[in-house]
Amino acid sequence: MTPLAIEPLVLPQSTESPDAGGFLAAAGLFNAHQREIWGNDDFCETPQAQLARLQSTPTRRRQLLVARSGSGQEILGVAQLNFPLTDNLHTGTVNVVVDARSRRRGIGAALCAAAGELASADGRRTLIAETEHPLDGGEERAGGGPASFIPQDAAASFASACGFSLELVERISRLDLPVDGPGEGFPGSAAGAGYELVFWQDACPDALVDAYAQLRQKMSTDAPLGGLDLLPEVWDVPRVREAEGKARGMGYDVLVCAVRHTASGELAGHTVLEVARSNPAVAYQDDTLVLHRHRGNRLGMMMKAGNLRRLGQLFPEVQRVYTWNAEENRYMLAINLQLGFRAIGYSGEWQKELSLG
Ligand SMILES: CC(C)(COP(=O)(O)OP(=O)(O)OC[C@H]1O[C@@H](n2cnc3c(N)ncnc32)[C@H](O)[C@@H]1OP(=O)(O)O)[C@@H](O)C(=O)NCCC(=O)NCCS
Repeated sequence: MTPLAIEPLVLPQSTESPDAGGFLAAAGLFNAHQREIWGNDDFCETPQAQLARLQSTPTRRRQLLVARSGSGQEILGVAQLNFPLTDNLHTGTVNVVVDARSRRRGIGAALCAAAGELASADGRRTLIAETEHPLDGGEERAGGGPASFIPQDAAASFASACGFSLELVERISRLDLPVDGPGEGFPGSAAGAGYELVFWQDACPDALVDAYAQLRQKMSTDAPLGGLDLLPEVWDVPRVREAEGKARGMGYDVLVCAVRHTASGELAGHTVLEVARSNPAVAYQDDTLVLHRHRGNRLGMMMKAGNLRRLGQLFPEVQRVYTWNAEENRYMLAINLQLGFRAIGYSGEWQKELSLG
């Protein structure tokens, strides 16, 4: 095999910079991988959006490692690492992609090993990775349980070979729009007695941002985590503003629908949709959460239906909405099925214990 060099990739100032070649090649590998899985560009991001996503912030350090052929400068593979800086300091995440023409030559394993060394040198003991698997007929595989949704394909075989174990399975679903006309036809999209829907776009109003930070924090503990070794995230107002700035930098419009308990004024839940300006046919469903004490009032359905209705009004060109839900999250999945979402695949969350460096 040609000798291989694994090295950090310094991000360029912009995608137009003279030194942007390596970054553009890495960004191209991430997009080629998404196209390979889904057969379309719905999960591809412009290099500009990827560059904005990869910038480190006060809450996350992000880093790229690339594999170059020893004989030339060609980039054959890339690993993206994320390290939380304000909570979950024992963890890191990694995403490895190898050029389709260079697979089964040990490049992925070399990138994964280098990522593990970086993470453990940084004091991280748990490395988390995600794999994606389009539906191939839709049937649960033999054996039952969430793991039975993940096929033994290249990604899963690779994760196992690198020492990861599967800890959580998420269903990836798509809603095709319009549903009975643009933004119409969703069940239960008016607020129930005692609650009112509150909408904002991009920036949370100052008067609500403390409460919104608490909802965002709750999302990290209330959504199912399977066996993932994750602790509660810490969210405050600066972190909410950081996330809003990141979305702006990436060229996303963000639609939030929250629900307020009228008598107490308390925010009882929220749901978030994102639309990439570079791909206006597609929207992504982010968080949805209802606080425990307000559950059982159909607020999840009210908020989601209300936000989808608003999406149809403000972004009528959106044709597809994608969402990810833990396979064990029966309530959220039931709401999504009722709204018209249908499964298109599964993602696996994998975890590996590192020996500290
Ligand atoms: C998964 C991926 C990164 C593997 O990269 P790679 O350079 O081909 O992997 P390696 O050659 O280092 O393989 C290491 C081991 O993984 C397993 N593996 C990798 N690809 C496999 C395949 N297609 N089928 C079965 N096992 C496979 C094998 O055990 C292999 O060891 P072996 O070749 O000695 O049998 C590559 O296929 C890829 O980029 N896929 C798309 C992105 C992706 O799914 N990333 C996974 C995120 S965790």
